[in-house]
Amino acid sequence: MNYPKKWKDYELIDHGNGLKLERFGTVILDRPEPSATWKKSLSDSEWNKADAVFSENKNQKGSWDKNLNDWNISYPFGDSEIIFKLSQGSFKHPGIFPEQAENWEFINKKCKELTAKGIIPKFLNLFAYTGGASLAADLSGAEVTHIDSVKSVVNWARENAELNNIDSIRWIVEDAPTFVEKEIRRGNKYHGIIMDPPIFGLGPKGGRWKLNRDLPKLLEDVMKLLDEKNRFFIMNTYSPQLSLNELRHLLSKTNGFPSSYEADTLGLVSSTGKELLLGNLIRF
Ligand SMILES: C[S@@+](CC[C@H](N)C(=O)[O-])C[C@H]1O[C@@H](n2cnc3c(N)ncnc32)[C@H](O)[C@@H]1O
Repeated sequence: MNYPKKWKDYELIDHGNGLKLERFGTVILDRPEPSATWKKSLSDSEWNKADAVFSENKNQKGSWDKNLNDWNISYPFGDSEIIFKLSQGSFKHPGIFPEQAENWEFINKKCKELTAKGIIPKFLNLFAYTGGASLAADLSGAEVTHIDSVKSVVNWARENAELNNIDSIRWIVEDAPTFVEKEIRRGNKYHGIIMDPPIFGLGPKGGRWKLNRDLPKLLEDVMKLLDEKNRFFIMNTYSPQLSLNELRHLLSKTNGFPSSYEADTLGLVSSTGKELLLGNLIRF
């Protein structure tokens, strides 16, 4: 399992019984986690230290038992840091997927390799949410295009960019597969692409994204956008219906997908020493 090792402002304190207990800066949250199938390690008195608890209703929406003010956390990145605004909402995610920090390091390494060859990396972030990978790529010297179908989420990513004094990212509110098709027609190419597609999603014009139905075509299209020689690719899938073996099989049938790549799981390790698997990770 791949997991981030440099966090200071984030800690997975414990997980189990379908929940995770996490510290984001000084704020402790208790929220649902379907992958947390072990038993909790810590006592109820430790879990009761949570500042807010999320209860899920329907369609992954729900509510927090306490309203907290928005707050910032930072991730140590190279000689600097990446700052994120966190906020409660009607979904359990506070604005960051902490396990993704492992990919931010990968992006940094790959961008440095390209810049050492005199290439300014062109980087595309699909299903980009609040922009963690976009900020990491920008700070690593890339020209970044950020795509998400939800306007409020793109606005949140822009706020994060402002917090980091970044003003050079191209922000686009669009359905990711539609954007990719247009880029193929326009003949554009990228050196680096990251995609973290959800199981279900929504395009801004109401079109629906379904991972199991739509991933094969998107993957073939994305391969057409990658530079032939100087390139890197990262994909996460978090779906109980798509095992790593099934994903490997799908990739073997995907036109243009290389035969050699890294296939692993992405996750987190709690302070109590337990691994939490948070989906498949494909990289090359
Ligand atoms: C799992 S999150 C990605 C998190 C991201 N890896 C990160 O670390 O910040 C999925 C994102 O996909 C977006 N999304 C859903 N359907 C989409 C679509 N059809 N086109 C573009 N973005 C979509 C959602 O708005 C959400 O921000």
